[in-house]
Amino acid sequence: MCGIVGYIGNKKASPILINGLLRLEYRGYDSAGIATIEENEISVMKNQGRVNSLYELEGINDLKGTIGIAHTRWATHGKPSKENSHPHQDNSNSFAVVHNGIIENYNELREFLTEKGYNFLSNTDTEVIPNLIHYYFNKDENNDENRILRAVKSACSDLIGSYAIEILSKYNKNNMIVVRKDSPLVIGKGNGENYISSDIPAILSYTKDFYLLDDNEIVKLSRNKVMFYDENLKEIQKPVKSIEWGASSAEKGEYADFMLKEIYEQPKAIRETIGAKLDNGIIEIQGLSLDREYIKSLNKIYIIACGTAMHAGLVAKTIFEKLCKIPVEVDIASEFRYRNPLIDENTLSIYITQSGETADTIAALKLAKSKKSKTIAISNVIGSSITREADYSIYTHAGPEIAVASTKAYTSQVILLAILGMYFAQKLGKTDKEIISNLKKDILQLPNQIEEVLKSSDKVKQFAKKVYKEKDMFFLGRGVDYAVSMEGSLKLKEISYIHSESYAAGELKHGPIALIENNITVIITMTNSKLVEKSISNVQEVITRGAKVLAITSEEIKNNGFEEIIKIPKTNPLISPVLSVIPMQILAYYISKEKGLDVDKPRNLAKSVTVE
Ligand code: G6P
Repeated sequence: MCGIVGYIGNKKASPILINGLLRLEYRGYDSAGIATIEENEISVMKNQGRVNSLYELEGINDLKGTIGIAHTRWATHGKPSKENSHPHQDNSNSFAVVHNGIIENYNELREFLTEKGYNFLSNTDTEVIPNLIHYYFNKDENNDENRILRAVKSACSDLIGSYAIEILSKYNKNNMIVVRKDSPLVIGKGNGENYISSDIPAILSYTKDFYLLDDNEIVKLSRNKVMFYDENLKEIQKPVKSIEWGASSAEKGEYADFMLKEIYEQPKAIRETIGAKLDNGIIEIQGLSLDREYIKSLNKIYIIACGTAMHAGLVAKTIFEKLCKIPVEVDIASEFRYRNPLIDENTLSIYITQSGETADTIAALKLAKSKKSKTIAISNVIGSSITREADYSIYTHAGPEIAVASTKAYTSQVILLAILGMYFAQKLGKTDKEIISNLKKDILQLPNQIEEVLKSSDKVKQFAKKVYKEKDMFFLGRGVDYAVSMEGSLKLKEISYIHSESYAAGELKHGPIALIENNITVIITMTNSKLVEKSISNVQEVITRGAKVLAITSEEIKNNGFEEIIKIPKTNPLISPVLSVIPMQILAYYISKEKGLDVDKPRNLAKSVTVE
């Protein structure tokens, strides 16, 4: 939520800032703004609307400053408006600030500052920050080069909540200060210039060398130097990390949208996530070393995540329980963290998060750690916040995922979790070796099989053309087909704004069937030969009531009244969601296109939810 960019160097800052914001727009897109220093004064330009709306502002192209901060907003406190857009300034226009996160005690701070004579022009929580910095700056009688740094440190020690902040001051046009706590921020190191961003892909075209910040670290950037301080302003050293992602991985290339590109990148994402893990007899996962005794001691595994990542967890539950015979509970991070979950040192907890920045998932991990649970983070972003908290971090290698609706991250998560399940099973030695070696073979075939499924995209596109005007849809399935139906339903909601429900096929008759009326669209997934007859009976119940049914199946079925059948290759039912989800992703995509919507940036959503 909210994206931040910063630049200090010798080039004109504004085009670099706007270009960075455009790449971060998936994080929020209801208003945008930039600030640069022009001849010793701070110049702020902001507008309600998408980042491109900045170009409508008179004078934006005349900004010459070579130091600047920028922000794209996803409103939390204060509705989307020009006044509430960032950057915000203190009353004397000496400091400009952009902020991602939430200041929970902003009301108290506002009262305190109001008593001291400060006025507020916006309804945001952020506006307290520049004024607080100004307050401490004025109180400090020592006018040395670290006066601003000390003011920022004092202001931060008053803030409760989460923040990634960039600060520009007219008192020092050769320095910029940034600070982070529970919100993402990276520094890109250039030659005689430095960049700041909420994530790596936004500035990949400028540099591949990054400093990753930890909580409460304060950074002072100049053109040739980056200095790091802890919360007590003690100087610290940080290593530079070189990132292997190519700049083109964050570009749309020949595709109309990032989502379509990412759907088609799934064979590659799966191949890279599998990597060399299955090459030898013994499964090894880099970053993980759990011994047999520990795995044997487990009474339960918790899988915690949000959104699509949680749906990957639901698939993993079936895999783990089947292979390892350990009970698995899957929970939504925002629920888990407030329900006093039953955890002890014999509970392993696994956190799935593409971005590694989801606030609820990180908080859930911290909670489990405090109860002595060992924690494993599964993320797509090396060095992301969660990976610095977890006992073990293992990675999907899906490459940058830019579209808000997750696709390749989901399938990569399912595969990594399947391999993790096999890793546990092999250590426990409870599961037949043949089952494991067959599953291995099936996993290795998946990338080619996804390519096969992608070939049926035209059929799905035609179906999308028939149904895009509808108001409601149902997604049905049993077992993992039910788990993947939830993901299909979420994809549809996210990018087409069509209301949809997913139901366990056998549960339909206990209520929701009352909603089935003539011509309603139902999507049923059937990939398990043991359950297919049961599912067909359930689907007949809706066909009889006039539903138009799209079947996604790997089974040989007769066309008993289906509107369309999408045949997918056969695989082990445990990992079938990696194939069956593809037609659902394509369906949601083409429905959204037919409706003329913005596929990559659906309304009200943000890719990375760094607030509770
Ligand atoms: C947001 C995104 C979803 C994503 C969820 C969890 O809601 O819009 O696509 O699944 O966050 O994100 P994470 O980065 O933790 O996987």
